[in-house]
Amino acid sequence: MVVTHTLDGLLPADVLGRQDPELAEILLGELDRQSTTLQLIAAENFTSPAVLAALGSPLANKYAEGYPGARHHSGCELVDVAERLAVERAKVLFGAEHANVQSHSGSSAVLAAYAALLRPGDTVLALGLPHGGHLTHGSPANFSGRWFDFVGYGVDPESGLIDYEQVRALARTHRPKAIVCGSISYPRHIDYAAFRAVADEVGAYLIADAAHPIGLVAGGAAPSPVPYADVVCATTHKVLRGPRGGMLLCGTELAERVDRAVFPFTQGGAQMHTIAAKAVAFGEAATPAFTAYAHQVVANARALAAGLTAEGLAVTTGGTDTHLLTFDPAPLGVDGRSARGRLAAAGLVLDTCALPHPDVRGLRLGTAAVTTQGMGEVEMARIAVLFAAALRDVHAARRVREEVRELAGRFPPYPD
Ligand SMILES: Cc1ncc(COP(=O)(O)O)c(C=O)c1O
Repeated sequence: MVVTHTLDGLLPADVLGRQDPELAEILLGELDRQSTTLQLIAAENFTSPAVLAALGSPLANKYAEGYPGARHHSGCELVDVAERLAVERAKVLFGAEHANVQSHSGSSAVLAAYAALLRPGDTVLALGLPHGGHLTHGSPANFSGRWFDFVGYGVDPESGLIDYEQVRALARTHRPKAIVCGSISYPRHIDYAAFRAVADEVGAYLIADAAHPIGLVAGGAAPSPVPYADVVCATTHKVLRGPRGGMLLCGTELAERVDRAVFPFTQGGAQMHTIAAKAVAFGEAATPAFTAYAHQVVANARALAAGLTAEGLAVTTGGTDTHLLTFDPAPLGVDGRSARGRLAAAGLVLDTCALPHPDVRGLRLGTAAVTTQGMGEVEMARIAVLFAAALRDVHAARRVREEVRELAGRFPPYPD
């Protein structure tokens, strides 16, 4: 390959500023927001400058319907190499026989998994939405709830843990075509072997929606669903720290069905800049530094859970195995929705979530972004104290906001 360009000056930082100051100002304002508040949304992270560079590269210009070596457009020679690289890196990273890296999002990946294995009207068993299931796990507002017959299993209201006996009983009663395991807020490891045993018992496919833990899996800090699930779907932008997007992993025997479910069934042209950025992220995730980061993410979540518990907050399941935890702020006299607003005013950015108790909105926190910034357990203990201060006293927001600004300022996400 003869390369006549260099990367120097290809994407000068001030191009946008000169051409479109209005948008540049929005962008800089967002960078400022991300750098001066604490990003505790469990699904967010800070991608590396290399990932951002791939996203903002001329690969964004290329149309590439189809798969490497079999495209509907000319000029795909180099983007084919990029996609093959992303696929190979994903296969090695996750020990999978096959990877599809084209899904535009986590939801598209789930849609493709269903399209590969199911027909409209099939019965699917998944974690109920009030217990932490995702929209794509049977919400009536989503294609999943409209096109499939979902039955929901739940978590035990006392322990907050998945009730595997209930999963088994429901599977025997409803004989689903597929069982989905995965959640937006479950803080503990999922027992994939237990799900596999139930699926085998009733002749169902097992789909693991590992959008949240997949980054921990990459870093060896959580068990892998790959040996157990027929299809694993995931996002690439959470703990995994890649660009916004989805991917699917499966065995050789389902590879063609999964690929055809992504393209041409659910998507058109692949987003080659995003696929290149996924390749960069998979490369980063294969390093010892990423393994250390993934373990630190969990250590930080545990430290945060311990700190919040010490402040009198009710942490679901008593702690966490992963990057996320959920809790009920009620012991401090505030409900989940008001708590989110109060914390946002103090610069602590997070989501509300469903809790095992019906009709109670709790809060969901994740430690991936703050860990990427370089924070450790000491900072998590400090954050727990700031949380409690902001929740206990509505007038404390301004003081806490200043402390948050100082803390965030010591750990800039993009120091250069
Ligand atoms: C378990 C699970 N599945 C699917 C998705 C959907 O991902 P996306 O927002 O990229 O569509 C999410 C996103 O948070 C998720 O947590």
